[in-house]
Amino acid sequence: MDFALRPLPYPVNALEPYVGAETLRLHREQHHAVYLHQLERRIGRSPRSADSLPTILATATGSVFELAAQVWSHEFLWQSMKPRGGGHPGAPLAGALVRSFGSVDGFRRLFRMEAAEHFGAGWVWLVVDRGRLRVITTGNGELPLTRGQAALVALDLWEHAYYLDYRNERKRYVEAFLEHLIDWDFVAANLEAEPPRAPARAQPACEVEGA
Ligand code: FE2
Repeated sequence: MDFALRPLPYPVNALEPYVGAETLRLHREQHHAVYLHQLERRIGRSPRSADSLPTILATATGSVFELAAQVWSHEFLWQSMKPRGGGHPGAPLAGALVRSFGSVDGFRRLFRMEAAEHFGAGWVWLVVDRGRLRVITTGNGELPLTRGQAALVALDLWEHAYYLDYRNERKRYVEAFLEHLIDWDFVAANLEAEPPRAPARAQPACEVEGA
């Protein structure tokens, strides 16, 4: 298989105080790594032992798909954050957010609301969906890929991602992600790789923050 547990893109304590070192270590070693090891065991017993992760995601069903999806999503999550992240996106990405959500703050409000209203375990995403940017949530291990959507950024809404640091206050965790952790350069690179094919609607007359 051509997938493995890659090193984190930053030290395990680099996201403090917003994601504690203990949270990140447990999340990686007791969740991400366990999903990968369980997937390897399952794949090892199947004829798909030479498959790549994208191939498994495109073809597998049931628990093999769910494990592969969790492996993919966690790798994507680590890249969605960085130390001293947050702030304002660069002009091309900010413009795309304005066209789809009215303003960068409009995106943040929708992301917060969708994350807060999502019931149970899952993920909140910014995606490209048929040429427009959308904020969506998925349950458990479901992926935007299965809906034909391209992921730009992700935040894990499973309690293991935030409970040590925020207890039941998911709202504070999401706020910390948006204000201090989101890696806008990663979002912009994903958007460049998967540009919207048509504007969501006419350019609104509001200003772009920090653009
Ligand atoms: Fe997780």
